[in-house]
Amino acid sequence: MTNSDTKAILTFSDGSAPLEMPIYKGTVGPDVIDIRKLYAATGMFTYDPGFMSTAACNSAITYIDGDKGELLYRGYPIEELANQGDFLESCYLLLNGELPDAAQKLEFDYTVSRHTMVHEQMQFFFRGFRRDAHPMSVLVGTVGALASFYHDSLDINDPRHREVSAIRLIAKMPTLVAMAYKYSIGQPFVYPKNNLSYSANFMHMMFSTPCEEYKVNDVLVRALDRILILHADHEQNASTSTVRLAGSSGANPFACIAAGIACLWGPAHGGANEAALSMLESIGSVDNIPEFIRQVKDKNSSVKLMGFGHRVYKNYDPRAKLMRETCYEVLAELGLENDPLFKLAMALEKIALEDEYFVSRKLYPNVDFYSGIVQRALGIPTALFTGIFAMARTIGWVAQWKEMISDPEQKIGRPRQLFIGEKTRSVKPIEQR
Ligand code: ACO
Repeated sequence: MTNSDTKAILTFSDGSAPLEMPIYKGTVGPDVIDIRKLYAATGMFTYDPGFMSTAACNSAITYIDGDKGELLYRGYPIEELANQGDFLESCYLLLNGELPDAAQKLEFDYTVSRHTMVHEQMQFFFRGFRRDAHPMSVLVGTVGALASFYHDSLDINDPRHREVSAIRLIAKMPTLVAMAYKYSIGQPFVYPKNNLSYSANFMHMMFSTPCEEYKVNDVLVRALDRILILHADHEQNASTSTVRLAGSSGANPFACIAAGIACLWGPAHGGANEAALSMLESIGSVDNIPEFIRQVKDKNSSVKLMGFGHRVYKNYDPRAKLMRETCYEVLAELGLENDPLFKLAMALEKIALEDEYFVSRKLYPNVDFYSGIVQRALGIPTALFTGIFAMARTIGWVAQWKEMISDPEQKIGRPRQLFIGEKTRSVKPIEQR
């Protein structure tokens, strides 16, 4: 970041001295006003619930231009990464800052594949859960539990330890997600196969049984890989900020990622693809779209068009375009071109994109509008959708955590507050209250 020639000057209507604050410029995107001296100089905090105007860190990983509908990982457009590389290539990029050359890619893939197994003892953790437990609760528990198995890589001040933990997390997440699924349906766990690609191995662990091997289908594997690439990172969203905040205290990376998974579980964050699919199912048929749209526009109803709208994108979510393409490919491969939910989604999208209500509010489809349909076609149960999101986002969380630990400006995260409770008062004896 560079200093801008322009300064921000904060003035007060009560005659207090004005305060001059530096402005920094990033490479692209909004500049920031450095308010770090504000409290010392004025005795005041800023007030910004929801971080609507606050940059909590500087980062060189992911950039979103919501007006243009642009998403860049380390400067590379998501469309190019999704069309030209695989998920592990994006992982390498997010983690290391540059795309790998052929030898680096080979070595990275090999290293990740050598860490896919989890400690055999992990099976007992799963067995402690009810079979109908939500996979996200299982993942919060089991990912946090990984810390108890890998004491040899928990020194966050050692770059090599950070590297090893990062690889372990990327490599073991698919195994844990697949184990959560197998446990929920009462099938035996399937061990990873290291000769398969990252995504093919996940499909294998999900859908093979001791009696029948999963036959790798390249179109379906590619679709899963694309879902993973599209969800790999999204700058300082709620779960990523959670990971950074947890990590700012020096907590180990497994604990931090477990915190990120907990945050992602919320319906306002990771749960929207499940909600979009349920919405399509409840609309049921193209004939019911007008009535549904009427309800969405009715201020007195709480009905929303799930999979539409985004806090940052005020244009078509670039991930949604790619996901729609993938949706076509997967349904064609499976002979489901006439899938009624897909037809319904297309009709709904067309109507919404032409409707004044959505146009004037800049509401466009987001990635979740189509990703539920794709995952359902791949055979992934609805309850696992957010688990797949967590598996994809683990690389983003880990890369952001690693960036934070190596940032010399890093401090323990400690937001301040505007206190509106009681002032000091004395405890009365219980009979006088
Ligand atoms: N359906 C109908 N109206 C909507 C929708 C929607 N999906 N989204 C926003 N609006 C309306 C709001 O009612 C509001 O209208 P008003 O100005 O008349 O009051 C206007 O558009 C602005 O909406 P906000 O809620 O202020 O936008 P915000 O940025 O806070 O919300 C959010 C973004 C939460 C994503 C919202 O669009 C939404 O709830 N969408 C549906 C859920 C969803 O798809 N979430 C996934 C996000 S992507 C991801 O997490 C990977």
